[in-house]
Amino acid sequence: MPERLQKFLSRAGVCSRRAAEELIRQGQVAVDGLTVAELGLKIEPDRQRVTVKGQPVAPPGRKITILLNKPQGYVTTMSDPQGRPVVTSLLAGIKERLFPVGRLDLDTEGALILTNDGDLAQRLLHPKFEINKTYQALVKGRPSPEAIAALERGIDLDGRRTWPARIKLLGGEEGGSRLSIVIHEGRKRQVRRMFAAIGHPVVHLKRLAYGHLRLGDLPLGAYRRLSDLDLDLLFPPAKPAKKIHREKFFSLQTKK
Ligand code: URA
Repeated sequence: MPERLQKFLSRAGVCSRRAAEELIRQGQVAVDGLTVAELGLKIEPDRQRVTVKGQPVAPPGRKITILLNKPQGYVTTMSDPQGRPVVTSLLAGIKERLFPVGRLDLDTEGALILTNDGDLAQRLLHPKFEINKTYQALVKGRPSPEAIAALERGIDLDGRRTWPARIKLLGGEEGGSRLSIVIHEGRKRQVRRMFAAIGHPVVHLKRLAYGHLRLGDLPLGAYRRLSDLDLDLLFPPAKPAKKIHREKFFSLQTKK
C-alpha cells in the first residue's frame, strides 16, 4: 500500500516524522536513486528503494521502546562531530536502530526514552499531550519562596513565558538546595536556564520521570524494554477538550 515517505522513514526507525520531513527538505532522501524534492510524495515500501544520505533504509521491523538511565557525558544525538560518546552506544544487545525521543543535555542524567517507533515518538513530542517531565535539581544557594513562586508562575525565556511549573524544595545540602521540578515543555536547557534566571544555577540535574513512567531503581547507564503497560504510563489521562486558561491552569496546579 502506498505510504507517505516521511511516515515510512519514521516507521523504519530512521527518526521521528517531523525530523524525516526536515531530511526530505534538505534533499537528503532519495527514492529509487532520485532525490526527493517534495514533502507529499507517496512510495510503495515493498517495491521502492529508499536511501537517506546515501544509506539504504531497511523496511520497518519490530517496534522497540526502551527507557535508559542516561549518565552524564553522553550526547542524545545519533552521532557527534566532536566525537563525544552517544547514548546509543549504551544499547548493547539491541540490534534495531533506536533514536532518542527529545533530548537531555550532555551533563544531565536520567530518564531518556529511545524507540524505533516514529509514530510513538511523534505523539510523545507533540505539545498537545503536555507530558510532564519530573526533574531533581541541585542548585547553588537557597532559592527564596518568592523566587520559587515566580518560576512556578512562569518566567520570560527567549521572549516567551514558560508554562506553569510545579516546584518543591526538598532540602539543603553542601551550600546548595535540592528541588524537584515538573514541567511539560522541552525547551533547550530549560530547567538550567530557569534556575539561572533566579540566580541559583543548577549544579546537578537528573530526570526522574517521563509522564508517570519513573526511573525507579534502574542503574545509571542501564536500560529496560517498555511493556504496553509502561507505554500507557507515558501519556496523561485524557483532559476535557476545553482549553484551560494559563492562570486557571496555574491555580489548579498549586492547589494539588
Ligand atoms: N532541562 C535542562 O536544563 N536540561 C535538560 O537536559 C533537560 C531539561
